[in-house]
Amino acid sequence: MSYNALYTDLSGYYDLMCADIDYQGQSSSAQRLHQIFGNGGKQHLDLACGTGPHIAHLAQNGFTCRGLDINQPMLDIAKQRCPDANFAQGNMCDFYTEETFDLITCFLYSIHYSGDLNNLKGCITSAYQALASGGVFYFNVVDKRQIDNTLFAKHSVQQDQDLFHFSSAWHYVGDSEKQTLNVRIDKTTDQQTLTWQDEHPMVALNFDELEALLTPYFDIHVFEHNYESITPWNKVSGNAIFVCVKR
Ligand SMILES: C[S@@+](CC[C@H](N)C(=O)[O-])C[C@H]1O[C@@H](n2cnc3c(N)ncnc32)[C@H](O)[C@@H]1O
Repeated sequence: MSYNALYTDLSGYYDLMCADIDYQGQSSSAQRLHQIFGNGGKQHLDLACGTGPHIAHLAQNGFTCRGLDINQPMLDIAKQRCPDANFAQGNMCDFYTEETFDLITCFLYSIHYSGDLNNLKGCITSAYQALASGGVFYFNVVDKRQIDNTLFAKHSVQQDQDLFHFSSAWHYVGDSEKQTLNVRIDKTTDQQTLTWQDEHPMVALNFDELEALLTPYFDIHVFEHNYESITPWNKVSGNAIFVCVKR
């Protein structure tokens, strides 16, 4: 069991694992909400950008994009995908940029990679400092009180002679500030199966705690976790999109 093979040795499989994700829909959602709540600027920074799929979509829509990620193998793939964008290796919980951004995004629950509440505070204040006036910090999150340890997402992909099975699930126990994302990859070639399992340490929190961290810096708008429509959060769902406007 490793903690981040998926983003290092196995980074070449990441895009296969995410083949079902609606990157265009997610990017359009961020763009729409930025149009409504933001300052109209086009400077974009994607935190935990991974292999850069959101950057590819936002750059096509006129944004000038930068990506930050802690794992260089992910950035190497991102640079191939988006040769015109700028990428930097770094920790989203402690970053500083000379330039300012109008839209900062952090997709696919990656803000939970902050790991603990103190680092999450660092991520929020780093993003605040990097935003231009009226800029938007957009991300999605899960409320720890609503995590169902029996649920998991899975899908299979055939690539040439290899059959891949991917699965991922949240795991949260008790009332701590830690949860894990458990990822499993099975690759079968000629009836031989290789299996990898990652256990990613993540920060666990509830939405009240998150709002308390954000309130000193941002006006906060919370939406249902739906990329096709803009629906205010119903105060019950355990997944949500946070749109935080710099004061
Ligand atoms: C689930 S992937 C999401 C990648 C991309 N945003 C997407 O939607 O496909 C999480 C990413 O977070 C990155 N990551 C993990 N911890 C990080 C940190 N502290 N700072 C920056 N990036 C981090 C990983 O390297 C990985 O690329």
